[in-house]
Amino acid sequence: MVATDGRPAPKQESATFDLSAYLKQRKAQMDAALDSSVPLAYPDKIYEAMRYSLLAGGKRLRPILCLASCELTGGTVEMALPTACALEMIHTMSLIHDDLPAMDNDDYRRGKLTNHKVYGEDIAILAGDGLLAYAFEYIAAHTKDVPASQVLQVIAQLGRAVGASGLVGGQVVDLESEGKSIDEATLTYIHTHKTGALLECCVVCGAILGGAAETEQERLSRYAKNIGLAFQIIDDILDITATQEELGKTAGKDLKAQKATYPRLWGLEASKTQAQKLVEQAKAELEPFGDQAIPLLTIADFFVKRTY
Ligand code: FPP
Ligand code: MG
Repeated sequence: MVATDGRPAPKQESATFDLSAYLKQRKAQMDAALDSSVPLAYPDKIYEAMRYSLLAGGKRLRPILCLASCELTGGTVEMALPTACALEMIHTMSLIHDDLPAMDNDDYRRGKLTNHKVYGEDIAILAGDGLLAYAFEYIAAHTKDVPASQVLQVIAQLGRAVGASGLVGGQVVDLESEGKSIDEATLTYIHTHKTGALLECCVVCGAILGGAAETEQERLSRYAKNIGLAFQIIDDILDITATQEELGKTAGKDLKAQKATYPRLWGLEASKTQAQKLVEQAKAELEPFGDQAIPLLTIADFFVKRTY
């Protein structure tokens, strides 16, 4: 297989698969695709603000999951690239809005000043709105070689994942829970919606674009749900154990805000064990795919081993 930038993708062999080379190559590919997805135009200020956050770095794990899932189910990187860009646009807009003074009031994101600190609150809100709307346009206008019915399914999935039944709903319960002691069910609701819904959407949309059968989509959805929750548990742990430099954002915020987190409910060690268990469950879902699933298998392991 040859990547869109002409360089060959790393080989997929279980013993020799090099995840860090794979992630590096895919991140470079995504960075280039995102850079060209939002060209500067009039009014300059809004496009600059959108590009500022979209191109501020980040691991690009969500779009990488989408590309990997599409390839696993018989599609190509090219088929999934517009959706992968759209997913990163939506992730970025959710972070721009999450950092606003009306929400988490944060000054740093991805190692840089937050959008509203640079462009002001008004433009930051509009930059988020611009990215959200453009994400849907981008899928509809740029997806090639995929039947229209599948593109429509992707758009519906994405709408469901970001709206009140997904990210927005999770964020609302998160905001409502601030300063309160909440139970495990509420905490899980927050995380499965605020973080999990978009991660699941990445994997499922990749599978839809790749032409996966419904049973394969369901397997991949369960894989994604499990790694999504594991990702959040590790996020909660890193908020306690990692530094601001490692995270690229303020560390120790959850403790300071007395937020309910998994380490607070279960303790650090039990939280790590639970994250590992979820990753094992996720990996079990990939068994029928054999060696083709090596990228998604190793990404699942990376989700619990990451230190940033
Ligand atoms: C970060 O969580 C925030 C999110 C994962 C999503 C927030 C969602 C919204 C603001 C809704 C956006 C609107 C639409 C239409 C999608 P965090 O504060 O726990 O993590 P952090 O430490 O990285 O800020
Ligand atoms: Mg936040």
